[in-house]
Amino acid sequence: MITEGKNILIGITGSIAAYKSAYLVRLFVKAGYNVKVVMTEAATEMITPLTLSVLSKNKVFIDFSENNVWNNHVELGLWADVFVIAPATANTIAKMNHGIADNLLLTTYLSAKCPIVLAPAMDLDMWKHYITQNNIKELKSHGIDILSVENGELASGLFGEGRMVEPESIFEYIESMLYEKKDLQGKKVLITAGPTYENLDPVRYIGNRSTGKMGIALAKEVQRRGGDLTLILGPTKISSPAGVKVINVESAVDMAKSVFDNFQNQDIIIMAAAVADYTPKSVSKTKIKKKEGDLILELKRTIDIAATVGKKKNENQILIGFALETNSELENAMRKLKKKNFDLIVLNSLKDEGAGFAHDTNKITILSAKNNKISNFELKSKEKVAVDIIDEVVKLLDK
Ligand code: CTP
Repeated sequence: MITEGKNILIGITGSIAAYKSAYLVRLFVKAGYNVKVVMTEAATEMITPLTLSVLSKNKVFIDFSENNVWNNHVELGLWADVFVIAPATANTIAKMNHGIADNLLLTTYLSAKCPIVLAPAMDLDMWKHYITQNNIKELKSHGIDILSVENGELASGLFGEGRMVEPESIFEYIESMLYEKKDLQGKKVLITAGPTYENLDPVRYIGNRSTGKMGIALAKEVQRRGGDLTLILGPTKISSPAGVKVINVESAVDMAKSVFDNFQNQDIIIMAAAVADYTPKSVSKTKIKKKEGDLILELKRTIDIAATVGKKKNENQILIGFALETNSELENAMRKLKKKNFDLIVLNSLKDEGAGFAHDTNKITILSAKNNKISNFELKSKEKVAVDIIDEVVKLLDK
């Protein structure tokens, strides 16, 4: 168990996003970590220390001393296996970068020897300000992990970048840091995930039922194992892992361009996206109006991204494809494995209950080009399926 005996120190500073820190504390405690909280005076106005103390099952640290007893920030810093400051305000980020130590959280930061993760939260102009960006750049250059901010409505009522990433993403990011099986360390991995949308006119598109869940589960597993990940993601509502390089695309042609621009220097390429095979021959600039009678759409073939990469890849690159089939499954998967020059193909059959799009589970068979080996797996959560797939990929690295 990665959680066993692991200590998470959560720092909370005075942003309205502090209300989300309660949930972050809860996520760590529920997973079995030891959790302590250190907060600034300003943060206590956003969320009560009592709430955090109850949730963390520990006393909350705020002041340098309590009842004439020193709160030892050195010990607190050394206790932590990870120190995550969420939310981290512009003020705290600036003080961290200049060694200002005027509260317990900052002195703890200066004493800590463990990895430090910041989840910034602030208004969009503060975020964009050159001073904030310079501070972030400098802290990053000293090895501080700084999660990206999200785009959306801010407490000021303005819309833009500055929202703290969701607690689940922070939790997953830290879990991956602590994951001990780092067998993808130093490997560059490219994953395509999600559906593609092919525009018909400004309001309509042709899409498919892929949610991107399997691809995102694979992305999280690669990140946990230390891989250097690029995720090329079609339109999906599922949030991608924090700290990962994500390239958002919409259509098959956008996805193809991103893959072709990025695959050359990758070690492992996983094609988990459900790419449209056809796209409208022409896209109307204005909304197509209904008329009497039927409408016939003309579609043209899209480029096969996986097959193109299969032709161009070098002998050290590992290419993994997916096949979703409804009949003659093994035969079809074997044909695609050879035709697209995959090293592995992951087959799911729509005949299997709980497999395929939109489910949280999947049941897969992996076919290997190397020795024509066929491995069958049980129905599992997509997260566990991702572990099985990456285990098979890692076996190819050892060849
Ligand atoms: N794929 C791709 N680009 C496309 C179509 C598919 O990269 N334009 C990739 C998918 O990501 C998947 C694999 O190819 O890894 C198999 O896709 P699939 O659509 O099942 O294969 P097809 O050859 O299109 O077979 P069919 O339509 O006969 O099922």
